[in-house]
Amino acid sequence: MRTQVAIIGGGPSGLLLSQLLNKAGISTFVLERKSRDYVLSRIRAGVLETGAVELIRAAGAGARMDREGQLHDGCYLASNGRMFHVDFKGSCGKQVMVYGQTEVTKDLYDAQDAIGATVIHDAEDVALHDLTGDAPFVTYSLNGQPQRLDCDFVAGCDGFHGISRQSMPAEVRREFEKVYPFGWLGILSRTPPVEHELIYAAHDRGFALASMRNTMLSRYYIQVPLTDRVEDWSDDAFWTELKLRLPADVAARLVTGPSIEKSIAPLRSFVTEPMRWGRLFLCGDAAHIVPPTGAKGLNLAASDVHYLYEGLVQHYKQGQSDGIDSYSQRALARIWQAMRFSWSLTTMMHRFPGASDYERRMQDSELAQLENNATARRLMAENYTGLPY
Ligand code: APR
Ligand code: PHB
Repeated sequence: MRTQVAIIGGGPSGLLLSQLLNKAGISTFVLERKSRDYVLSRIRAGVLETGAVELIRAAGAGARMDREGQLHDGCYLASNGRMFHVDFKGSCGKQVMVYGQTEVTKDLYDAQDAIGATVIHDAEDVALHDLTGDAPFVTYSLNGQPQRLDCDFVAGCDGFHGISRQSMPAEVRREFEKVYPFGWLGILSRTPPVEHELIYAAHDRGFALASMRNTMLSRYYIQVPLTDRVEDWSDDAFWTELKLRLPADVAARLVTGPSIEKSIAPLRSFVTEPMRWGRLFLCGDAAHIVPPTGAKGLNLAASDVHYLYEGLVQHYKQGQSDGIDSYSQRALARIWQAMRFSWSLTTMMHRFPGASDYERRMQDSELAQLENNATARRLMAENYTGLPY
């Protein structure tokens, strides 16, 4: 078998790239390790930057998002019981779209089916070959039968635990990592959101986040020690702790209910450089991981896809290679800005074990500057809604 671009991974990165390339007349083959049901069962964040929204629309997968998604003009920051608004639209003219990543992924699968794109599920033992030559190929097994896919390029969209990053020799890769000393316990409940926009709450008991998927599906998180397990937390214990960390007037109107999903996720910042090796391009979580505080995971995957899509179209349609040659440098420039923002918001809003009194005062001062300084709020708004591609 042969295709122009072999895409490893059928998550948001791989599907969005496949959809855009196919619409531009460039053939792809998506190789996904898991079943579609498994991929669509994963609960992920739900805030889309303007750039990601526009890219999903350009891919022809934005109709349901535009019908069911919620445009938010801003968010709230709370600290030990007090709360203030950060007006994105008023300060930088942009909004964010609240629409679950799982829904984005489902819409992309439906769009891929609609154009007859090739998505292979349950592809096992994927291996990448001859990446530095001019005839790379991918091997994998399907139902126990060995397969070979010849291609021009490989897009490694297979996430943090994928094979693509590992296919780059260790001596070529430079990795940067920060692991945070806490996790997020998240709950999904069929209850009306407590506020019409998101609330990021800092509290001496720990961070909390009030988010949502729609008007009857709420998503809440609380910071927990890395040693905590999901079974340590009953629904009642979660709701009680969440109420203690939210401002009293917010807690008083919180509608609780049974969890339909409950999980703990660790927080890490990770970047690998470069994002290209020969004919292999890394995209999305395969190249970087952000703490969820800034809601940048899917949005960075989208900007990676944008740069790679642009470069590949230029290669195939105009016979020029400066787009793919500059892919890694362009993607990383935006990635590091999002890394900084995610790290800054995480550092400001969480309680770190062993933090000094001075560090705690710095957190309070950061929040006070945001509350009292319109320029600081504009900078947050520009980063949260997405820096330009
Ligand atoms: N072979 C084939 N597929 C693989 C392999 C492999 N060796 N390893 C992983 N995969 C698949 C996974 O099953 C997954 O479906 O690659 C896909 C990677 O998807 P994601 O992990 O969702 O990464 P990405 O598409 O870059 O999306 C980034 O997803 O994890 C969130 O927070 C993250 O919002 C961000 C978004
Ligand atoms: C979510 O709704 O899951 C969500 C929203 C914003 C974040 C993180 C998660 O920063």
